[in-house]
Amino acid sequence: MLDLCLSNCKIVPENITRYIGVDGGKIVSIKNHPISAEKIIDVSENIILPGLIDAHVHMRDPGLTYKEDFRTGTKAAAAGGFTTVLDMPNTKPVTNTTRAYMEKLKIAERKCVVDFGFHVGADNLDQIQKLASLKPASFKIFMDLYEDDFLIKMFSEISDLTENNDNKPIISLHAEDNKIVDHCTQLKRSEGKLNPNIYTEARPSQAEEVAVSKAILLAKKFNLNIHICHASVKRSLDLINNAKNDGCNITSEITPHHLFLDSEYLTKFGSFAKTNPPLRKVADKISLKDLHLADVIGTDHAPHTIGEKEHNIWDAPPGIPGLETTLPLLLTKVNQNKMSFVDVKRLLCENPARIFNIHNKGFIKEGMDADFVVVDMKKRDVIKPENFQSKAHYSPFEGKKVRGLPIMTILRGEVVMYDGTVFEANGKYVYN
Ligand code: DOR
Ligand code: ZN
Ligand code: ZN
Repeated sequence: MLDLCLSNCKIVPENITRYIGVDGGKIVSIKNHPISAEKIIDVSENIILPGLIDAHVHMRDPGLTYKEDFRTGTKAAAAGGFTTVLDMPNTKPVTNTTRAYMEKLKIAERKCVVDFGFHVGADNLDQIQKLASLKPASFKIFMDLYEDDFLIKMFSEISDLTENNDNKPIISLHAEDNKIVDHCTQLKRSEGKLNPNIYTEARPSQAEEVAVSKAILLAKKFNLNIHICHASVKRSLDLINNAKNDGCNITSEITPHHLFLDSEYLTKFGSFAKTNPPLRKVADKISLKDLHLADVIGTDHAPHTIGEKEHNIWDAPPGIPGLETTLPLLLTKVNQNKMSFVDVKRLLCENPARIFNIHNKGFIKEGMDADFVVVDMKKRDVIKPENFQSKAHYSPFEGKKVRGLPIMTILRGEVVMYDGTVFEANGKYVYN
């Protein structure tokens, strides 16, 4: 007998009632009739999606666990319908050595309640070869931190790898040009103004466009796959898609905050809306009509403490927690017919799995991990950061009304969230 049957499921985009058989943590059958199993979960004709994959989170563990840790961060993931997270390397120590990588792995195996993988830093040139053998999700480069000649060195070192490696590692890029950002920040700061929406001009859209253009040139020169994180302006998506049509191996990620918020939210929420790249003016920003130009929605879950975020716009750290707001915000748009479930699946399940080589996730198909999120499209809520599982109890989405909520998250056949309560589970490393 099978371990589990999920009964009365609606799998997108079909409109038929399905029964999903699960055994040993894997999907083993998808039928039109009930399947006998030791445990039955009645999904009550709600929509079931593949467990979401967040390709861009900052869990702050190790070293910055006063902001978040692998336990609270992955509890936030489970609450938000995510069953896999890919963590960024800007922890303490930075994940740019095999030693730091193995240490992070040990901690994550102990604390995570959803599955996980790691991006690694590319700024430790001597370590690139060894790090590549660990098969990280990607090599991450913060273009805002490095001069052009060092960018070239990192690309060059990674391209040398590929000669004896069939799996080309992908490079993820925080695309803001270092020179433009430094220059404009200094200029705006020296004006002495403290109105928060000045931050948008301190890191202008041109900084992103220039960085994206440079990244494309480097990807072409070194014949590498690149992924542009959190594209915030429409023009970046155009540059990326032109390059794609030109044969460049490039993919794009957008975030819910750049999609749904604009620079006026800086006026409203002050430093709590501060993020890099900044929220954009309405005329520059990405919007739902650009969704077809994007490959991935990542939350860029970047938690800080309230105390840190209470500082003025220049001194507060950038970052917004997103794991617990993303799916409700998107489902609200699905309810309004402004996007579809097919978009949600493509941007948060299928493409992240494909781009970051997570072979057994992202699809509801036989043989795949039994990772799911069940959503109730009638349920309403108001975004209340005080209820977050994350340590970061703030959000520029605070007070937004949402309709459509994740009600159950299932990780390899085990219920890890039901009706807002998160349970114990053993998150596993996805790149074994
Ligand atoms: O807003 C941001 N926060 N942008 C980044 O690039 C880093 C991140 C963080 O780690 O807080
Ligand atoms: Zn970034
Ligand atoms: Zn980030």
